[in-house]
Amino acid sequence: MTRRILVTSALPYANGSIHLGHLVEYIQTDIWVRFQKLQGHDCLYFCADDTHGTPIMLRARNEGISPETLVERMHGEHQADFEAFSIGFDNYHSTHSEENRILAEEIYNKNREAGHIQTETVHQAYCNKDALFLPDRFIRGTCPTCGALDQYGDACEVCSATYSPLDLKQAACALCGEPPVQKSSEHLFFQLAHFEPFLKEWTRSGTLQPEMANKLDEWFSTGLKNWDISRDGPYFGFEIPGHPGKYFYVWLDAPVGYMASTWHYCKRSGRSFDDYWRPGSTAEVYHFIGKDILYFHTLFWPAMLQGGGFRTPTAVFAHGFLTINGQKMSKSRGTFINARDYLNHLDPEYLRYYYACKLTGRVDDLDLSLEDFVQRVNADMVGKVVNLASRTAGFLQKQFQGQLSAAYPEDGGLYQTFVDTGDEIAQLYETREYSKAMRAIMALADLANRYVEDHAPWSLAKQNREAELQNVCSVAINLFRLLLTYLAPVLPVMAEKTREMLNLTELTWEGRRHPLCGTTIQGFKHLMTRIDPKQIEALLADSRPSGATVGVTKPVDPPSSPVALPSSPLIALETFAQVDLRVARILQADYVTGADKLLKLTLDVGEWGQRTVFAGIRAAYSPESLTNRLTVVVANLTPRQMKFGLSEGMVLAASQENNTDKTALFLLSPDTGAKPGMRIQ
Ligand code: 2FM
Ligand code: ZN
Repeated sequence: MTRRILVTSALPYANGSIHLGHLVEYIQTDIWVRFQKLQGHDCLYFCADDTHGTPIMLRARNEGISPETLVERMHGEHQADFEAFSIGFDNYHSTHSEENRILAEEIYNKNREAGHIQTETVHQAYCNKDALFLPDRFIRGTCPTCGALDQYGDACEVCSATYSPLDLKQAACALCGEPPVQKSSEHLFFQLAHFEPFLKEWTRSGTLQPEMANKLDEWFSTGLKNWDISRDGPYFGFEIPGHPGKYFYVWLDAPVGYMASTWHYCKRSGRSFDDYWRPGSTAEVYHFIGKDILYFHTLFWPAMLQGGGFRTPTAVFAHGFLTINGQKMSKSRGTFINARDYLNHLDPEYLRYYYACKLTGRVDDLDLSLEDFVQRVNADMVGKVVNLASRTAGFLQKQFQGQLSAAYPEDGGLYQTFVDTGDEIAQLYETREYSKAMRAIMALADLANRYVEDHAPWSLAKQNREAELQNVCSVAINLFRLLLTYLAPVLPVMAEKTREMLNLTELTWEGRRHPLCGTTIQGFKHLMTRIDPKQIEALLADSRPSGATVGVTKPVDPPSSPVALPSSPLIALETFAQVDLRVARILQADYVTGADKLLKLTLDVGEWGQRTVFAGIRAAYSPESLTNRLTVVVANLTPRQMKFGLSEGMVLAASQENNTDKTALFLLSPDTGAKPGMRIQ
C-alpha cells in the first residue's frame, strides 16, 4: 500500500551558515525520505529558513542591511549548501512568508478564542541606549549563586544555576556594556497547562522514542508552565493581530514554517494542504529534530496545533549531537567545519556514508572520528563497492561489447541471498537504524568480493575461458547493482552514475528481484576516489581561524625609532599586532609544589581551547580568589618548558617597575561583557 508521508527537518536559523553539526540531521532525514521514495511511497520532504528574532535583526543592523535582505542572502547560501550535499527537499521555504503569517495568525486566533492565551505583566531588562528589551543571551553579569563573572542572563555556565536576568549582579547589555534598567510590559502567554491531559495521551501514542518519553514524564512531574509567546518591538517577526508593537516570539512561528512550506508546495503542485494538516488527514507526519529542541516539538507544538484546530504529528524523531574526534566542534582545533569548507576539499558522499555508518534510531550523540572517516570510506566505499565494478565491468566492455550473459548464471544462491537481505535492510532504514543497515550491506559486499576472488576473472581472461568470464562478470555486476540499490538512499550521486552505467531507467527496491540478463552496460564510470589524509589536513587548516597558530612566534626586529623616548623604544603597529592578546577565564588556580612564587592557572580561552600557564603571582593572590575571574593572556607566546610543566602563554599583570613588594601585583581584567577568546586589540 502506498503511504502518504510528510517529513520535516528542523529549520536552520537564517543568521548562520550550515555546518557539519547541522548536516547530521539533514543527512539522517534525507536518507529516510529517499528510502521511502525508493520504496514507492508518496513521501514529501519540507523545510525552510527560520528567519525571525533579535539575533537576526541585530546582525542585519551590524551589516547595515535590512533583515529581509539578510534573510534572502542566507536563503540562497543555505539552499546551495543543501543541494551540494544532495539534501533533496521537495520545498525549501521561509518563515518570513505570507503563508507563514496567515497560518501563525490562524493558530494564534483559534487558541485565543478558545481561551488559551492570557495576558501577564512581565518585568524585563531593557537597554536605554539600544532602546531594546534584552533577550537573556544579550545580558552578561555575575552569577547570583556562585559569583562567577561574565555569565549569561539566564543560566550560569560555572554552577549551572538558572535565574532571571534581573537577579544577575553587575548586569550589562552585551551590545553596549551599559547596565540595563528594569521595564515592565504586557506579554501574551500560551496556557500550556490547559493541554496536559491531551499531551499525556499524545506522548503515549507511540509518537516518541523511549528516552524522549522519559524526559516528558520528568517535565509532566515538574508541571507545565505557561509560555511567553510575545516580544516587544523592535523585533524582526510578525506583529500580533490586535497588539500593535508586539510580535510573535520566533519559536511561535518557527514550527508553523513546516506547514507554510507544505502550503507553498501544494499551491505549486496542485496538492491539497488540508490533506496534510487539517483534522482527518490520513497522511503520516514526521519531524526529525535534535534533542535540544524536544520541549518545543513535543509540548508547545502539538498543543498549539491541537488548540489551533490542526492535526498533530505522527511521531517526532530526535537525534544526538555531533562531536569531532570525541570533542565538541572547536574553531581553534579547526573542527568547527562549515558545509562550504568541507565541499572545497571533500566529496559530500563520503560524509553521507560515514554519518549513515554512525546513525541509530536512538538519541545518541555521534562522533566523527577523522581517522576512522578516512579509513572507513576508503575501505568500504572504494575497497569493497567501487572495486567490485571496476574489476569486472572492463572485461564485459572489452570482450563482450558490454553485454551481460543472456541467462542469469549459477551463483550458488548468492543473488537470492542479496534479494532476501533487502527485506532486513528495508526494516533497518525504516526504523532509522542506518548503522546496522550499512553493516548488513557491507557484509553483502564482502560476499560479492569473495565470489570475484574465488572465480578470478583475470585468470579466466588469460585462459580465454570466455563464457565463464562473461558469467562471472555478469554475476558481479548484478550484485553490484543490488548493493547500489541498497545504498541509494545514502549515496544518491553514486547510485545515479550506476543507473547510467547499467543503462537502467531507474533503480527501485522492488526492481531488485529481477537480475539483469542479456542487456548491455556502458564502460566503467568513475564512481568515487580514495580520501587522501592530506585533504583532511587542508580542510582543518581552512576551518581554523587565521592567527590561531598557537605557540608560534616569529622573531621581529622593531624598526629603529627616530625619536628617543624616555622609556620604551617605539614599535610599529604591525609588530604590536603580532602579539595575540586574548580574554581568558581562570578555571582553576593551584599552588605549585616547590615553587613559592608561582600559581598554576588553567585558562579557558574560548575557541582557542584550554591553556596551562604558570604565573608568578602567588604572593598577590590566593588560588580561591582567582577561580572564574577573567584576565588577559598572551596567546601566541612560544610555550615554555618549565620544571613543573609546560607553560602555554602568559597572563598580564601590572606592577611598579623595580618593584620590591611582590604583593603589589594587579592582574588585568576586561570589563564585564567580555568573553573568553575575544581578541584584545
Ligand atoms: O534550533 C534551531 O536551530 C531552530 N531554528 C529550529 C527550529 S525548528 C522548527 F520548529 F522550526
Ligand atoms: Zn545596550
